[in-house]
Amino acid sequence: MSERMPATPIDTGKPSAWSGDCLVIGVCEGNKPQEALKLCGQGVEEIVHTALAAKWLHGKAGESLLLPMPAGGASGARALLLIGLGKRDEITRERLRGIGGTIFAQARKSTLSTLLCLIPLDRQGLKRSVAAAALAEGVLLGSYRFDHYRQESPENERFQPQSFTLAVRKEDAAAVDERLKRVRAVVDGVFLARDLGNHPANVVNPDYLANQARLLGERHDLRTTIFGIDELQAAGMNGILAVGQGSRNHPRLITLEYRNGGDKSPLVVVGKAITFDAGGISLKPAEKMENMKYDMSGGAAVFGFLQAVATMRLPINVVGIVPAAENLPSGTAQRPGDIIRTAKGVCVEVINTDAEGRLILADALHHAERFQPRYLIDLATLTGACVVALGVECAGLLGNDKRLMRRLQRVGEESGERLWPLPMFPEYQEHIKSDFADIKNAGTRDAGTIMGGCFLSRFVEKGRPWAHLDIAGTAQEKTGRPHVPKGGSGFGVRLLCAFARKHMMD
Ligand code: BES
Ligand code: MN
Ligand code: ZN
Repeated sequence: MSERMPATPIDTGKPSAWSGDCLVIGVCEGNKPQEALKLCGQGVEEIVHTALAAKWLHGKAGESLLLPMPAGGASGARALLLIGLGKRDEITRERLRGIGGTIFAQARKSTLSTLLCLIPLDRQGLKRSVAAAALAEGVLLGSYRFDHYRQESPENERFQPQSFTLAVRKEDAAAVDERLKRVRAVVDGVFLARDLGNHPANVVNPDYLANQARLLGERHDLRTTIFGIDELQAAGMNGILAVGQGSRNHPRLITLEYRNGGDKSPLVVVGKAITFDAGGISLKPAEKMENMKYDMSGGAAVFGFLQAVATMRLPINVVGIVPAAENLPSGTAQRPGDIIRTAKGVCVEVINTDAEGRLILADALHHAERFQPRYLIDLATLTGACVVALGVECAGLLGNDKRLMRRLQRVGEESGERLWPLPMFPEYQEHIKSDFADIKNAGTRDAGTIMGGCFLSRFVEKGRPWAHLDIAGTAQEKTGRPHVPKGGSGFGVRLLCAFARKHMMD
């Protein structure tokens, strides 16, 4: 797995008494620089004022300016890094994560190894310890890199900074420490999900995922159950079997159980893991098809989430279910027109073999029912239509329970993994009626994401609080943001962790 930075240590001492490579100072837009600059040694306050007066930096979020440390400044530091925080009353957790990522990127670029961050953390509506944790989270999230298949990493990524010290008040140190423990667990979960996404499909196939699940189970005391072809057949899971039948890499159904909540009913999370989606006989166009290695990102998020929950030892029960298959065209692949009897008994006419995610999720959602979930949440890179509707800024949110959806949306806001709701009016269900079976896997081209949601809803029991997250647009980061480097984003891990902590602990 990827290279990690050592744990972020916290320092509560005076900046002038600290020694390291670089002092990082946060500057808000339109505010006077912080009082604490006076403690940073001679010349520091002056140079910050000079920089602002000369408009080398305005304090806008994302700005940064590297200066040599004035003589007499914080002991030993070579450099002074000014970081824009934006308008003071507009600072959110997610913005702080971005700022953390920017600090990391600057340190890497300028080969600064040890950094002391002096960022004003007081802000209305946000506890100082929460703000500190968000900043640290951003630094850690930004430190991710994936270089398993490079003999030499690119020049600008070669250097890895060693430590970031957050200057926090003495009275906050314990709370920050506590939060940082959780942040590390969550970030490790995100990294696992990113790694699984970034490894190519000739490595990550259904069996690889099953082995990863076994490893995770051994390391974290999770109960792992793997269904291979025989078990899938015995359970009548013909949705998973049909999608997988075109590949020599046979499908699997992976179940991970984390139990630390007595007899409380569990949170069950289901993640689509198509390790490669060529479309099957309804073959996709060649252009950008390589990105379909990310079609297992829902499953990756489930793995990352379970690892994080187990590391944090949350006093709850969680079950992760990952149906894994490879969707390829071949002489054994399923055909358009085929009719499958799913494990639930609902028969599905396959109109388009490229609408495969819903077929494997059908069996997985049905399987989830045996755990009597308190909440059932699935994550899937399900529809290109979701990217058309929402772009890459948020994931689609569908479901049958307003309260659950509201809670998820809120938690998405806080975690920075945002969701936006789409309707599932009963009329939509008309479009997936089939002439030959109970339903078909593709209806009209209109409202594609909703069609996917409607299809899945047929496999969830009445009254079960269920939500479906369409992460087609958010699973892969295309441009690269400070705390989300290019490639697999690990989307969903942060969100699910926040949800579990907030809504499963009672
Ligand atoms: N994995 C794709 C959806 C996807 C597209 C994810 C682009 C990420 C980026 C899914 O299996 C798929 O092919 N969906 C079809 C459904 C259609 C045939 C009803 C789609 O969106 O075109
Ligand atoms: Mn597909
Ligand atoms: Zn797919």
